[in-house]
Amino acid sequence: MNRFTDPEIAAVYRAIRERRDMRHFRPDPIDPALLERLLHAAHLAPSVGYMQPWRFIRITNSELRNRIHALVDEERQRTAEALGVRQAEFMRLKVEGIKDCGELLVASLMDGRERHIFGRRTLPEMDLASVACAIQNLWLVARAEGIGMGWVSLFDPERLAELLQLPAGAKPVAVLCLGHVSEFYEKPMLEQEKWATRQPLEELVFENYWQAAEPPVV
Ligand SMILES: Cc1cc2nc3c(=O)[nH]c(=O)nc-3n(C[C@H](O)[C@H](O)[C@H](O)COP(=O)(O)O)c2cc1C
Repeated sequence: MNRFTDPEIAAVYRAIRERRDMRHFRPDPIDPALLERLLHAAHLAPSVGYMQPWRFIRITNSELRNRIHALVDEERQRTAEALGVRQAEFMRLKVEGIKDCGELLVASLMDGRERHIFGRRTLPEMDLASVACAIQNLWLVARAEGIGMGWVSLFDPERLAELLQLPAGAKPVAVLCLGHVSEFYEKPMLEQEKWATRQPLEELVFENYWQAAEPPVV
């Protein structure tokens, strides 16, 4: 039988449904064996040409954590300015939990990616897609284990690369806040805060050809 058992299937769907991007954490640390399991699950992700372009940097130095927070906060201000009319609304949102989470990881693209052509000749960004798959694995197993995760992308990648001494060609793509949480948000926090709503699936799934909102004039 290829199919999982019904409770196993239900658990997979539950992890997907109840995964949330978390920004509120309790400060207690993650058990090292659990962190190891989470990272192993990330490493089982699919990757273009089996390239495995993910690199994870564990941030254990508190000074470094503060400096990452400062970089993110700077970008948060810049994002607010770029948003124009929604600036004040954006500034009221909590967009990261870097200082509070039990474990901080930085996910990066490896250096030397130009050597990997398989699946990337016309779509070089498939390396980033692969790292995103690994991050999603981490997110889902973390949820199943009762651990919250927040993906933070508000930073200047060049400055973060310099701070973390990445080799030339490598690129940080996500600051990941992981940790115990008092409770998971029931809905995406950006939905609770009325920043955005989930779009109806039928507006996003087409048949044969792209369905324009307005039908083309023929
Ligand atoms: C690529 C990516 C980058 C993200 N960057 C941020 C971020 O910088 N700050 C933040 O608060 N949330 C960030 N998020 C989380 C989204 O805001 C969140 O996924 C979305 O609001 C839906 O909520 P949910 O993940 O709880 O379903 C990011 C998510 C993804 C996939």
